[in-house]
Amino acid sequence: MARKFMLVLLTLSFIVLASGCKGKSPEDIKVGIAGPMTGDQSRYGVDFSNGVSLAIEKWEKQGGVNGKRVALIKGDDQHDPKQAVSVANKLINDGVSGVIGHFNSSCSIPASKVYSEAGVLEITPATTNPQFTEQGLKTVFRVCGRDDQQGKTAAGFILNNLKKTRIAVLDDKTTYGQGITAVFKTAVAGKADIVYSGRVIQGDKDFKSVLASIKAAKPEVIYFGGMYPEAGLMLKQAKELGLDADWVGGDGLMDGKLLEIAGSNAEGAYITFTPDPSSIESAKGFMEQYRKKFGEPGPYSVYAYVAADVMFTALNATKSTDGKVLAGYIRANTFEGPLGTVKFSDKGDNINASYVVWQVKDGKFVQLTK
Ligand code: ALA
Repeated sequence: MARKFMLVLLTLSFIVLASGCKGKSPEDIKVGIAGPMTGDQSRYGVDFSNGVSLAIEKWEKQGGVNGKRVALIKGDDQHDPKQAVSVANKLINDGVSGVIGHFNSSCSIPASKVYSEAGVLEITPATTNPQFTEQGLKTVFRVCGRDDQQGKTAAGFILNNLKKTRIAVLDDKTTYGQGITAVFKTAVAGKADIVYSGRVIQGDKDFKSVLASIKAAKPEVIYFGGMYPEAGLMLKQAKELGLDADWVGGDGLMDGKLLEIAGSNAEGAYITFTPDPSSIESAKGFMEQYRKKFGEPGPYSVYAYVAADVMFTALNATKSTDGKVLAGYIRANTFEGPLGTVKFSDKGDNINASYVVWQVKDGKFVQLTK
């Protein structure tokens, strides 16, 4: 009887152990990824997750991070600041050793305070508002550039390349939209006329009334600080109203979904973004691998890959999960990868990030300036 009982017990323990191996085991390193995984900006979330999954694949092929598997825990903030704080608290409760994200400045900034208090490392691939790294937090990094670079690039392009001086300015009232528009306005001040300045609300679908007011102001260029779901609709509705001005926007417009929403009305639109990774020798392997597995990479896919790779390198080298120890390692080292050399400033900015101008040509984003 006792032997039979022992046998049942052994079998049961085996089943429990085996099922534990399939999912997260206590031996996995838990890492969070946070951004808009569902909703109207989910395209960015998908690009993000795909990029990170390729970094995990690379590390698993070379024996894991500290010899362990990475268990990725997804947090969906739906680009909502309150949701982002809840996601941050949940990821911390789940015991993550670091977070790749968030995506939107309006989410990364409030969430960064939560991670920082808990001593959890946060590396964003895409948050460009300067404030993210200007808060004095020691455990935040960004792989992308900043809006004080990006807004100036747009201003210089309009003044020096397009040589246009009647400008309408719009933002979407978000941290990102307001911030980049403010930089842009300062950069053109005294050199151009801001003939219209206004705001739209994220999530709105009908922009005809604001576009009619812009048309009445007769701008040559419209600068929009916002994201692709609204920009796509605006491009379409502007054409319907016969508003014939050039459109210029920031990285929030750089997504294939913009082209799907606006259709041919997106033709000619200018967007500031980082240089095309397809022309960077070190990015070719990543781009090919990504295309084979997921199709065309999104603008931030490679940035998500690099953010994850930097995090795994730091976890592996320090054998620590303490945000301050990891941050110290990241600050002290340079990282080679598909974006070339990534080196972080003391504040946590990628000192090698730069901006160029792209244009929508024949239904594709094409890099225009160097
Ligand atoms: N760069 C955009 C932001 O910071 C996505 O919100």
